[in-house]
Amino acid sequence: MLAIDAAGVTKVYKGARQAALKDVSLKVESGTVFTLLGRNGAGKTTFVRMCATQLMPTAGEIRVLGYDAIRQAKEVRDLVCIVPQEGRPLRALTPWDHVYNWLQIRGESKQAAHDKTADILRRLELYEARDRPAMNLSGGMKQKILVAMAMATEAKLLFLDEPTIGLDPVSRRQVWAAIKDWKGKGGSILLTTHYMDEAEMLSDYIVIIDRGMIIAHGTIQDLRRVIPQNIRVDIARDGLDTNALKSFGSVVDTGAGTLRVFTFESAARDLSELAIRNNLPFTVSPVTLDDVFVHLVGDGIGDEPDVRK
Ligand SMILES: Nc1ncnc2c1ncn2[C@@H]1O[C@H](COP(=O)(O)OP(=O)(O)O)[C@@H](O)[C@H]1O
Ligand SMILES: [Mg+2]
Repeated sequence: MLAIDAAGVTKVYKGARQAALKDVSLKVESGTVFTLLGRNGAGKTTFVRMCATQLMPTAGEIRVLGYDAIRQAKEVRDLVCIVPQEGRPLRALTPWDHVYNWLQIRGESKQAAHDKTADILRRLELYEARDRPAMNLSGGMKQKILVAMAMATEAKLLFLDEPTIGLDPVSRRQVWAAIKDWKGKGGSILLTTHYMDEAEMLSDYIVIIDRGMIIAHGTIQDLRRVIPQNIRVDIARDGLDTNALKSFGSVVDTGAGTLRVFTFESAARDLSELAIRNNLPFTVSPVTLDDVFVHLVGDGIGDEPDVRK
């Protein structure tokens, strides 16, 4: 069964001149991590909130785990759990209170709630802080409380709306590990993020949305093929003639004193030799999701870089 089946979903907020989402159709397979990737304002939260029965679509249909998100909202709510983007834990309550009470509200026995709370707090390294009021915890720990609440449940589908915003690198990895565990147990996740590394690390399938529309979708491998060249060479631009580089592939100015050449393996070797001869620092790496994203969406500063040959 599909975790989510959305068809022609459009949302126009009251008084808005433009649609926040336009005719979005997508299918999320059960047991996968499905990622909506897009810049701020792309429409990610709008989509998540409609799937989680918090917001009505203006047009279109959404089925969640087989149920209609509008007409069968109650059934949907029993099966899903959401970590909202702007969520905050209650100041005076501890991590333990948050997770334990939440599990009891959802009908778990005392013993099961106790065990599950201890387990998830340990996994997210909140156990030591379990009895401290949330107001005395760091922003990252507060965010992890919300993730812990969702992940301690037996929900079949989790909505994680930018779950690692504001987290330090270690905490981010703890959340990533918890997401992988969750998937390993057969759960489904709709993740939103604007972090490329996060999308690359976790996703089985990615949909890139921009200004309310799907502009690309596929696995990481599919999306990498959006840029035909598979290698990028970053090379210090000192004294380099951009035109000379163009014979190797397409050239983008990274704005950080380096030129980025998208090319193929054979040409990458020649390019490296050129850099060595000229005593210029350079790095060679595979094309990343980041490159694909900038190629599709633009960098938000100037025109979209042209990496086509
Ligand atoms: N409650 C609202 N009322 C009016 N406009 C909104 C509301 N929420 C979001 N929007 C607008 O809808 C668009 C998509 O927002 P959102 O779904 O929050 O994007 P994202 O989560 O990708 O950053 C934005 O232009 C935003 O300003
Ligand atoms: Mg959002």
